[in-house]
Amino acid sequence: MTKLLAFNEIKAEAFADRLINVLNGGALTLMISLGHRSGLFDTLREMPAATSLEIAQAANLDERYVREWLGTMVTGNIVDYDSEEETYVLCPEHAAFLTRKGSPDNFAVVMQFIPMLGQVEDDILNCFHKGGGVPYEKFERFHDIMAEESDQTVVAGLLEYILPLKTGLVENLEKGIQVADIGCGSGRALNVMANRFSNSEFIGFDLSEEAIHNGQVQAQAKGLNNLSFEQQDVTHWHANETFDLITAFDAIHDQADPLAVLKNINRSLKPNGLFLMQDIHGSSHLEKNMENPIATFLYTISCMHCMTVSLAQGGEGLGTMWGEEQARDLLAEAGFGKVTVHRLPHDIQNSYYICKK
Ligand SMILES: C[S@@+](CC[C@H](N)C(=O)[O-])C[C@H]1O[C@@H](n2cnc3c(N)ncnc32)[C@H](O)[C@@H]1O
Repeated sequence: MTKLLAFNEIKAEAFADRLINVLNGGALTLMISLGHRSGLFDTLREMPAATSLEIAQAANLDERYVREWLGTMVTGNIVDYDSEEETYVLCPEHAAFLTRKGSPDNFAVVMQFIPMLGQVEDDILNCFHKGGGVPYEKFERFHDIMAEESDQTVVAGLLEYILPLKTGLVENLEKGIQVADIGCGSGRALNVMANRFSNSEFIGFDLSEEAIHNGQVQAQAKGLNNLSFEQQDVTHWHANETFDLITAFDAIHDQADPLAVLKNINRSLKPNGLFLMQDIHGSSHLEKNMENPIATFLYTISCMHCMTVSLAQGGEGLGTMWGEEQARDLLAEAGFGKVTVHRLPHDIQNSYYICKK
């Protein structure tokens, strides 16, 4: 007979309290996302203590909705409330992490992923029963949110921290080299690189027409003639020894066939070429991710996005948390003999792999 664990009342009560916090946190996530999209945080940042009507007018929004949103923000300890004056204020310390003009760590950007995932809950539930996956097209706003996220994680540190990880790379980019970005999405990183390194030629490949259109619009607005985009499934693409540098920002773990893509990248690089892969920091072993402060979020986004979009194409479903051990194995199998992994001090989310044949 199976021995049942004894029931510990204190542990149970503590867990119930924790679940209440989880419930409030989930609710707050939705409302922070709305605060970002509606511009309410940005409006509050610019205002002294103000009533809900003044805030609604300044943000050009409906007062009744703004007041209810403020109710969440006050009880969630994000906005301060003066009950006598009936005024609300966002302190600068909180504004720094919730507004567009804050630090590069605008947490409100990432919060948008939660309502996006909520939109596909029924489809994901269906996959729990029947297997398979939910395709990219089902995730409304994915490319917009991803571009915003890319701006503050990768693009913000690209020129100053990421490219200098490989000695001599910036100098080579200045002289002029051939660069491809795989799974380039809306091409934010490409646009910054092409703008900075006018002697180099850049090309971005992505499955999504919508994403590369966004990239093209930005490149045209900047008048860049050293940047182009191609709608291309990189599982079935390679260019023989053409590129000096290939980058993949957050774009390998959700591939249908990651090994084929890595092999294609390897074949497309010149003999001395470099593959720079930014991917999610983590271990392939669950127990080693317990100290990762955002592991719960990452496993969630994996299950409800990165893993499922791969499975939807009949792919492997590696998932966001494929981890460094598995990444190193796949890179070696794809022909990368020398791989060094870097972390950046400002970045809790990513690892940077510098790979050579
Ligand atoms: C997580 S997003 C990252 C986008 C971009 N690199 C960034 O950092 O914002 C992954 C991108 O890979 C693209 N992608 C996935 N599988 C692909 C494939 N087989 N060929 C080309 N692009 C692919 C998706 O359309 C998506 O834009």
